[in-house]
This record gives sequence, C-alpha cells and structure tokens, in this order.
Amino acid sequence: MNVLMVCLGNICRSPLAEGILKNKVNGFKIKVDSAGTAGYHIGNPPDPRSVKVAFDHGIDISTQRCRKFSVKDFDRFDLIYAMDKSNYGNIISLARNQSDASKVKLLLNEIDAKDREVPDPYYDSNDGFETVFQMIDQACEIIATKIKN
Ligand code: 4NP
Repeated sequence: MNVLMVCLGNICRSPLAEGILKNKVNGFKIKVDSAGTAGYHIGNPPDPRSVKVAFDHGIDISTQRCRKFSVKDFDRFDLIYAMDKSNYGNIISLARNQSDASKVKLLLNEIDAKDREVPDPYYDSNDGFETVFQMIDQACEIIATKIKN
C-alpha cells in the first residue's frame, strides 16, 4: 500500500501528514510520501512551524524536502489524499482516467464524509499549526488502523 499526501506548497500540511502517518505505520510495509500541487518551494525543507509542531509531538519531519505532484504519482500510489478542495481539484484535473481519479480523496473524509478541509496555515499564527496537526492526526489514525488490519 502506497499513500501520497498532497497540499499546495508541500511545506506545511502534507509534510505533517506524511510524518504523522509514517509514525503510525512504523514497521508495516507501506510507503508514505508527500507532494505539492505548486512548485514554489521545490527542494526546501518543511516550514519551521510544521517542523516545530511535529517535533512537539515526537515526530521529526526536518529531513523531508519539497517536491511537486507529478502525473506519474498516479502510477506510484494507491491512495492520494488532498488536504483541501482546491488541491483535490488540481489533482483530479491531472487524472488520465477513472482509475487515477478514484485514488484521490479528501483527507478529512476519513473522519466523516462532510468534505471538510484542512485549512492552509501558511499565513496563520503558530496556533493554526497545532489545530492542523490535530485534524491530520485524527484522520491518519483511521487510515493507519485500516492499513494495519
Ligand atoms: P501548504 O501551505 O500547502 O500546507 O504547504 C502553503 C505553503 C506555501 C504557500 C501556500 C500554502 N505559498 O503560497 O507559498
């Protein structure tokens, strides 16, 4: 099972989602990665506020590097989780067929099918990052439980 987490910049939300899910499925044969739909920060480490909130919860995401989502990711991954509806739309617009499109889901729909979004914390205060961490953590707990069973 290969899982890709996607947001806009791949420096705030999806690096957290990658780190959180990896932490939960440690020891299981699953690949977890993240990417951004935009290429503003390619090659950069995650935002220091994401690094800090992850570290505060015992997870090191500092060695991750930003990359852009590619059409090839549809071949490499079984599940592609978008953090918000804009990311979802951008990924779906690159899908080549129904099989590609069926892999794409909104992350928080793992918690409840209400099409809720993980808000973009980039322009937010530090507090926003803890809220985002908790939302992603709740969804990843459900994903990890499904993968392990
Ligand atoms: P992310 O947040 O999509 O959660 O990584 C953002 C990071 C950077 C930008 C936008 C959102 N940006 O415009 O540079």
